[in-house]
Amino acid sequence: MSESHALKISAVDQLTPNAVALTFEVPQELKDTYSFKAGQYITLKYPLNGKELRRAYSISSAPSSGKLTVGIKKMPGGTFSVFANENLKAGDVLEVMHPEGRFVFEQTSDKKHVAAFAAGSGITPIMSIAETVLESNPKNTFVLVFGNQNPEETMYFKKIQTLKEQYSERFFVQYVYSRAHEEDALFGRIERSTVNFVIKNKFKETPFDAFYLCGPEEMIHAVSDTLKDNGVSPDKIHFELFTSSDEEDELAENLEGKTKVEVTLDDETFSLVMDRKQVVLDAVLDEDIDAPYSCQGGVCSTCIARITEGKAEMAKNQILTDGEVAEGLILTCQAHPLTPTLKVDYDDV
Ligand SMILES: Cc1cc2nc3c(=O)[nH]c(=O)nc-3n(C[C@H](O)[C@H](O)[C@H](O)COP(=O)(O)OP(=O)(O)OC[C@H]3O[C@@H](n4cnc5c(N)ncnc54)[C@H](O)[C@@H]3O)c2cc1C
Ligand code: FES
Repeated sequence: MSESHALKISAVDQLTPNAVALTFEVPQELKDTYSFKAGQYITLKYPLNGKELRRAYSISSAPSSGKLTVGIKKMPGGTFSVFANENLKAGDVLEVMHPEGRFVFEQTSDKKHVAAFAAGSGITPIMSIAETVLESNPKNTFVLVFGNQNPEETMYFKKIQTLKEQYSERFFVQYVYSRAHEEDALFGRIERSTVNFVIKNKFKETPFDAFYLCGPEEMIHAVSDTLKDNGVSPDKIHFELFTSSDEEDELAENLEGKTKVEVTLDDETFSLVMDRKQVVLDAVLDEDIDAPYSCQGGVCSTCIARITEGKAEMAKNQILTDGEVAEGLILTCQAHPLTPTLKVDYDDV
């Protein structure tokens, strides 16, 4: 079930002229429910014109801080991000879903060298990961490459400076500005040459254990491809996308007919008949079944379920590995049925 609780906003902090941080008050009895791993996100639900809007926001605070904070950047023309920046204040209450996500830093006792490439609001999960890496072992190091238009639009600039002072021997930041020339910062966007400069030149002696990438799809592809070209194994590269590409759903165009679907959710089983041009999640929601979802664009992981009978194919998938798909896992917001019957289990994931 897409369970959520009404949480009160305890603080709204202006991070830049176009971004705010919201901190939620988590009552003692819900502390376990809202405990999270560095890098995870929460989904905020908001009623708009009789419909429920859902938006995912990465948690920027470290798990150890005891705080649940997200940073929201205003998107020009955006619905919730503009509302959040212009209207939300301390004391307001929002429905908040439980923390989720696979873009996480798992703490271990071994020494870790971690690098992150972030752009714009893509810094939010990286803040939580950076702080967690640095505090979890006195030998851990963290290299942050952070792209923005200019210093004024740089979210968490002050917090990053504080971390730099606190961990001066182990935390290194390379700013990249596309619209400002600053001493010690690179000019332009994060691209192949930036990655090569960082891993082959500035930190060539560092044997990185993991790379975390968060930002526009273009940046993620450029960084990931360059890392792989430099011999970094794909399992060391973790990425999180905030928006899905606008590709047409070509799969839907070529599908015909109907499928009888059996859905298991919270130990209950529901039956429905759906058009194969539809995606499973939409058909399930049309029946008022409270299935979990957030982005509806194939970039978070909230809607994952397991196919236990029949076949379905995803229009797009940037989350599940080939092995997980072979095991039957599926993003229901992208899944079109291919067989006359399909059984989908949200509980077995
Ligand atoms: C896992 C995950 C984590 C995320 N974490 C963060 C985070 O930490 N911080 C953060 O700021 N964001 C984050 N996001 C993005 C966030 O969820 C929202 O997508 C973002 O805030 C925009 O929402 P919105 O309602 O303001 O914009 P929307 O109303 O959804 O619009 C998005 C954009 O599309 C344009 N648009 C809308 N409708 C149309 C239309 N009909 N035609 C053309 N263009 C249109 C708008 O102008 C806008 O630029 C995350 C997303 C995911 C999936
Ligand atoms: S709802 Fe985000 S991947 Fe399906």
